[in-house]
Amino acid sequence: MKNTIVDIYFFTGTGNTFLAASKIAQTLESYNCKVTVFDMAKIDAKSVNLSHTIGIGFPTAFWNTYPIVKDFINALPNNIVGTTEVFVFTTMGNSSLKAASNFGLILKSKGYKLVGANGFLMPNNFIAVQKENKNIKKREKSYKQIEIFAKNLINTDAKPIKINLFFKLCFTITSFITDRWKSNLFQKIVKFKLKENKCSRCGLCAQICPTKNIVIKGNYPIFKAQNCQICMRCISYCPQKAIKSFLLRKTYRALTDQEFKKCFF
Ligand SMILES: Cc1cc2nc3c(=O)[nH]c(=O)nc-3n(C[C@H](O)[C@H](O)[C@H](O)COP(=O)(O)O)c2cc1C
Ligand code: SF4
Ligand code: SF4
Repeated sequence: MKNTIVDIYFFTGTGNTFLAASKIAQTLESYNCKVTVFDMAKIDAKSVNLSHTIGIGFPTAFWNTYPIVKDFINALPNNIVGTTEVFVFTTMGNSSLKAASNFGLILKSKGYKLVGANGFLMPNNFIAVQKENKNIKKREKSYKQIEIFAKNLINTDAKPIKINLFFKLCFTITSFITDRWKSNLFQKIVKFKLKENKCSRCGLCAQICPTKNIVIKGNYPIFKAQNCQICMRCISYCPQKAIKSFLLRKTYRALTDQEFKKCFF
């Protein structure tokens, strides 16, 4: 990586990717980089500064990622001059089938110089949620790998990132499947329901939903379906545990109260 002014654009549902982005920023800063971290849900992709190095971070979802992330990547301007460096990272519960590299290559085809791509194991926030002591260990282990990834961005010139045919094929299939997201198929399966007797009508879920998919009507939140990413943020961070889904019995929070404020507000 030659340009040490770095802008990291991340999307996070429950906080893992925010923590990974923060760790990368912290490591790069210790090597005298100037790093700014942005929540991509609040940014117009057309406004990114192409004179800086760009980092893109997202959670793996169905071995691919959420529509909000794909829309952001697709909307990034073509890099006609071909000098803007980009690195891509994903956080995953088990496997991403090289989603970061695949999205990296999409950016390469848009003219960006791909300087790094990797996936990092983090606690799973979907269905297979584990106990917090296991999650802490998993995050600690991952931070070490994230640090190495960030150091390598500084220390080495861009190495060509290659993906074999198997992972390319997987990506084509998972892209096809996750493009169905907008037909609300996944939302119908997961289906969030409000337990009115538990809800304190605090409105937090509507405030933190990244896609304004929750509206407050008659003081209670209403869950629309069309913009839901199934990012798990509302169900995980509701202080009353008032949001339910027949499929999701356990929820996961990566962030402390302080990190929560920094990340979402
Ligand atoms: C809808 C959904 C689908 C997921 N799909 C995958 C997957 O295909 N592979 C995987 O390893 N983890 C998967 N996960 C787990 C997340 O990728 C993982 O926990 C991630 O670190 C969450 O990041 P976040 O806290 O920034 O939202 C999925 C999570 C959700 C909510
Ligand atoms: S965050 Fe929970 S308690 Fe607050 S309004 Fe939403 S569902 Fe109700
Ligand atoms: S409704 Fe909940 S799960 Fe869906 S996008 Fe909003 S915060 Fe995420």
